[in-house]
Amino acid sequence: MNCLKEELHMEQQDIWNKRYNKHKSLSDLASEDIWIKKYGSYFDEKRDKTIVDLGCGSGINSYYLYNKGYDVIACDFSLAAIEIVKNNNDNITSMCFDMLQGIPIYNQNIGVVLASLSTHYFSLNDTVALYRNIYNLLESSGYFVFRVNSLKEYLSDKDEINEIIEENYYRLKSGAVKRYFDISAISNLLKDFKIIDINENDFVYFGNRKYFIDGIVQKS
Ligand SMILES: C[S@@+](CC[C@H](N)C(=O)[O-])C[C@H]1O[C@@H](n2cnc3c(N)ncnc32)[C@H](O)[C@@H]1O
Repeated sequence: MNCLKEELHMEQQDIWNKRYNKHKSLSDLASEDIWIKKYGSYFDEKRDKTIVDLGCGSGINSYYLYNKGYDVIACDFSLAAIEIVKNNNDNITSMCFDMLQGIPIYNQNIGVVLASLSTHYFSLNDTVALYRNIYNLLESSGYFVFRVNSLKEYLSDKDEINEIIEENYYRLKSGAVKRYFDISAISNLLKDFKIIDINENDFVYFGNRKYFIDGIVQKS
């Protein structure tokens, strides 16, 4: 990783650590809905496999899956997030790493990779490399389930934008970075996978209306 990129990543890691250190509890941070329920039948199909929750945050989806009996690995680069996960349930397997530096999981049995609101922080090159790593991590016919910011979300954020880093990738006044996708951009980035479902959704998230794109694709 070059120095500028490393600096950006350390800065972002710091922002997330501060956020999680401030809240410390799952109920402060967890989104209100378990949106992955709609893909329950795909998770069920991989019941005897391992699920990787990339960028798990305080672990809302990891808990949900763990409580349903799945073998789940909760992963995040924020140690403060991983501490919240462990404080709430010490039995959940967790790992702390930066997903842009590779995914250090050497298990041949990964049935599903879940990335809920955690892959929309990166440059285009990093996003392409990350999705390739996710593809390689999955067993054949494994699923990638994701949720990312929609371009429509940009309209609500636009007063908060401080700098354009590249097309559809911005730094906000808070220092945080954000990428926005439309369905065609995300479909193109995931073109090595078989697309099962990709949708744009809007709903109330922590009291605000948010626009997301979520979906499920399969390694083919
Ligand atoms: C908006 S939160 C999503 C948390 C959770 N998945 C959810 O749906 O509520 C984004 C998470 O991605 C993590 N994250 C961001 N960049 C990361 C990176 N490069 N490597 C690992 N985790 C990262 C952050 O620490 C944060 O916990």
